[in-house]
Amino acid sequence: MAYLSGRQRLAVVAALVLCLAAGAARAQLSPGFYSATCPAVESIVRAAMVRVVGQEPRMGASLIRLFFHDCFVNGCDGSVLLDDTPTMVGEKNVAGNANSLRGYEVVDAIKSSVEAACRATVSCADIVALAARDAVTLLGGPSWQVALGRRDSRTASMAAAQADLPPASDNISTLIAKFAAKGLDLRDLTALSGAHTVGSARCVNFRQHVYNEANVDPAFAMFRRRICPASGGDSNLAALDPTSPNRFDVSYYRDLMVRRALLHSDQELFNGGPADDLVRLYSNNGGAFNRDFSAAMVKLGNLSPLTGSTGEIRLNCRRAN
Ligand code: HEM
Ligand SMILES: *[C@@H]1O[C@H](CO)[C@@H](O)[C@H](O)[C@H]1NC(C)=O
Repeated sequence: MAYLSGRQRLAVVAALVLCLAAGAARAQLSPGFYSATCPAVESIVRAAMVRVVGQEPRMGASLIRLFFHDCFVNGCDGSVLLDDTPTMVGEKNVAGNANSLRGYEVVDAIKSSVEAACRATVSCADIVALAARDAVTLLGGPSWQVALGRRDSRTASMAAAQADLPPASDNISTLIAKFAAKGLDLRDLTALSGAHTVGSARCVNFRQHVYNEANVDPAFAMFRRRICPASGGDSNLAALDPTSPNRFDVSYYRDLMVRRALLHSDQELFNGGPADDLVRLYSNNGGAFNRDFSAAMVKLGNLSPLTGSTGEIRLNCRRAN
């Protein structure tokens, strides 16, 4: 720019700033992202989820959790789906995911159908976001528009998964801090935890709560000890919401209010602390829960996506191209 006058330089800089701003705008997610390139994607995902949830309702829960674990670790970039390679230790075998996170085969099957309709166009990260939304709706919960345009990462990080995924032993302060680190507030934390209205947990994750803690209804603790012996049986499963394990409703919050949470972390949301009022609200206001849950899922889905020309559209969700 040496040969330009001061005013011309200013104009060049202004034009550059405009271009960058336009780039940033393009990089945002939008519901119509595939309307020209893969208009059938939403109906393909939806049809697959109708089949899957009809066969096994818990798989709906598993897809909801898969979305959470994808987005909470380096953003919604499909990183959780990557298998380990000789040179990369990914997220699948971290403590919070190993022998626990499910639904990889479902994503693979949906990806195959989507690839058959529109090759190398739709990211694995977007498929997970759509599948999670459809799972919530099919189990009786709310629906919302999913903004699309995420791209897939080329790597995954076991260390980030280790640091960011909350274990069942977390207390309310730690949960608040971990969600705040992702730009999610107390309302988002409390609403999103309502996903525990469906699905199951393993004995290893609730043994401590039902044997050694005080903030649990004694009859409920006895009831759960029958599934979960004091030692052994680590993988035995119990419903997170015993009242209606396959129904996306507010009974999870009602359970919390009578100290019938399965996980220590769940009961932390109703234990004389800052989330108590929201638990009370959601327990008797399904409309408020549905609104806040949907809004929080949209926020979760916006966590640092790869867009534009960053990342890639993986052809196989389990490995980088
Ligand atoms: C607030 C912090 C959270 C903690 C500490 C937590 C912890 C857990 C644990 C320990 C399990 C059982 C895993 C096992 O035993 O194998 C589980 C299951 C589940 N989590 Fe969370 N979770 C949290 C937040 C969330 C969020 C935000 C969502 C989704 C929006 C979610 C959705 C689920 C679902 C649906 C299941 C059941 C999955 C299945 O049955 O396959 N969780 N969670
Ligand atoms: C919550 O857990 C953290 C980390 O384990 C601990 O440092 C903190 O003291 C705990 N807070 C409360 C209020 O128990």
